[in-house]
Amino acid sequence: MNLDQCRPGRFIVLEGMDGSGKSTQHAILAERLRDRGLRVHDTHEPTSGPIGSLIRQMLNGRIQANHETIAALFAADRIDHLLNSHDGILAKINGGMTVLSDRYYFSSYAYHAASVGLDWLIQANSLSARLLRPDITIFIDVSAEMCCKRLQQRHRRPELYENLEALKAIRAKYLFAFDQLKGREAFEIIDGAGGVEGVTEQIWIIVSRLFGWDHD
Ligand code: TYD
Repeated sequence: MNLDQCRPGRFIVLEGMDGSGKSTQHAILAERLRDRGLRVHDTHEPTSGPIGSLIRQMLNGRIQANHETIAALFAADRIDHLLNSHDGILAKINGGMTVLSDRYYFSSYAYHAASVGLDWLIQANSLSARLLRPDITIFIDVSAEMCCKRLQQRHRRPELYENLEALKAIRAKYLFAFDQLKGREAFEIIDGAGGVEGVTEQIWIIVSRLFGWDHD
C-alpha cells in the first residue's frame, strides 16, 4: 500500500478545456457524492485566494502579463490551494473529506507547455505532486471545435486561451502529458462529446470504482 492510500480522504480532479462541460459535471458529481453521505469539499483552480485573483485578472486582460509569469503563478496558486490555513485542501483531506477539484496540475501541463515546456512544469509542480497526488484525474475530452462553439454561446468576452487555435494546441498538450505520465499518475480519459447524462454516467463508473462501490 502506498502512502496516498493511507490518507483519510480522497482527492478527485476533473480536467478539460474551456467549454468541455467540466464545471457542469463537477456540480453534478459533488451533489451525487453528498447524496452518498460523503463530506465533500468542492474547489477549483485558479483559486479564489490572492494569487488566484491576480491570475483571473491576467486571464481577462485587466492585467498584462506574459505566459511564463502566468505559468509560474499557477504553480504558486496550487501550493497555496493545498496549504493555506483558510481552506487548504490538504487539511480537508486529512480531516477525512472528499475533495473534488475543478482543475489541478494537468491544466498547467496542457495550458503552459507551449510557452515553458512540460519538463519545467513537472518540476515547478513537483512539490504539489509530492504533497497531494490525485487519487484520480478524469479528463473530459471534447474537440477544440466543439468547445469553441459552446464558448461562443456564452456571449461574453473570450479569456486568454478561449480561441480555436489555442484550444487545439491545449488538447494536444493534455494528451501528450497523459501519455508521458502514464504509470506515474492515475487518470481516465472519457469522451465528452455526448450529452450531459452520458458523461455523468462515465464519470460515476470511475468514481464508484475508486470508492469500491457497486455501480448503481
Ligand atoms: P475555467 O476552469 O474554465 O473556469 P471559469 O469557467 O470559471 O473561467 O477557467 C480557468 C482558466 O484558467 C482556463 O482558461 C484554464 C486556465 N488555467 C491555466 O491556464 N493553467 C492552470 O494551471 C489552470 C489550473 C487553469
